[in-house]
Amino acid sequence: MKTIRAKITAFGSGFPDQILTNADLEKIVDTSDQWISERTGIKERRKLADNEQNSDIALKASLAALKKAGMDPSQIDLILGCTTSPDRFMPSLAATVQAKLGATNNCAAYDIFTACAGWMTGLQIADSFIRTGQYKNILVIGTEALSRFVNWKDRGTCVLFGDGAGACIVQPCKEGDPGEILEVRVRADGRYGDALDIPGIGSQCPASSYVLENNLHYIRMNGQEIFKHAVRNMASICEEILEHQKLTTDQIQWLVPHQANIRIIEAVGKKLGFPAEKVALNVHKYGNTSSATIPTCFDEYVQEGKIKRGDLVLMTTFGGGLSWAGALVRW
Ligand code: ACO
Repeated sequence: MKTIRAKITAFGSGFPDQILTNADLEKIVDTSDQWISERTGIKERRKLADNEQNSDIALKASLAALKKAGMDPSQIDLILGCTTSPDRFMPSLAATVQAKLGATNNCAAYDIFTACAGWMTGLQIADSFIRTGQYKNILVIGTEALSRFVNWKDRGTCVLFGDGAGACIVQPCKEGDPGEILEVRVRADGRYGDALDIPGIGSQCPASSYVLENNLHYIRMNGQEIFKHAVRNMASICEEILEHQKLTTDQIQWLVPHQANIRIIEAVGKKLGFPAEKVALNVHKYGNTSSATIPTCFDEYVQEGKIKRGDLVLMTTFGGGLSWAGALVRW
């Protein structure tokens, strides 16, 4: 009996049209283009319009992925919504997108809640379900509306994040087929959860005037703590994958790291021995879109012809939880 493998058939992206540049932020908080560019590499980010929701950009990304895969929404049998900023905490973002897609033909839909590691966690679940034969056409969406959870008066965080969505279709394949997922690893260490959190509006601290007065409904972050853990764990999970696959860095054509911050990206690339020209980058255009950074960056590099069929692509991410992940795909 032949072993079933899983492949990424196609990617799709969806961003809001509204662009917020560093110059725009200079008018809102005490910051400068120079500070933001030097510390983060970000020049601009996208922001949802008031009448636009996370599920709208998720829909855009999903439709783009379906179109490239030549599929109809009715063929999807599982939707994984990977997000920390759903339209509502109930129903799931995945179910909301399912309704908008009209993909209600024997289709399951639920959310994955591992912050920036969300999409890759979804990829691991999709890979496992395909290998066991449980589902055959899985839509994995990494999508965020972080502009709705950012304190626009806190210069330490509001300059970092953006809104965006990336989706992919995962399907069965044979060993060696294009897009094959070779390995996905996901980890967490909850001991450091306070380093990046949204303290209010969960069941521990339900919505109240106290929450609003104390800004507990916004993202809180210990930037230096995150930086340290991110570099160490993103590099080490890649090393584990390379060792397990008996590969070395020079055999990998592309590193697609989480697009949080240019300095984290450069430090991870350097630790692993990747030259800058093999490291995919779009953080300057979109900022940190959390679970959407990797699928949108991968999509962009494929569309621009930079990532080619047959290339080995190593991905790695890190975020709240703390949680992190790595994956290897032969595109
Ligand atoms: N503009 C101008 N000055 C600022 C800004 C800003 N936007 N933000 C902070 N500062 C000031 C601070 O107030 C501080 O001033 P002070 O010295 O007078 O007190 C000074 O700049 C230095 O602040 P630090 O927080 O020490 O700056 P640091 O060098 O650590 O850079 C940064 C901050 C960019 C957040 C950095 O810690 C970092 O990159 N951390 C990684 C965090 C990250 O990427 N998080 C994303 C979510 S997690 C993830 O996706 C991996």
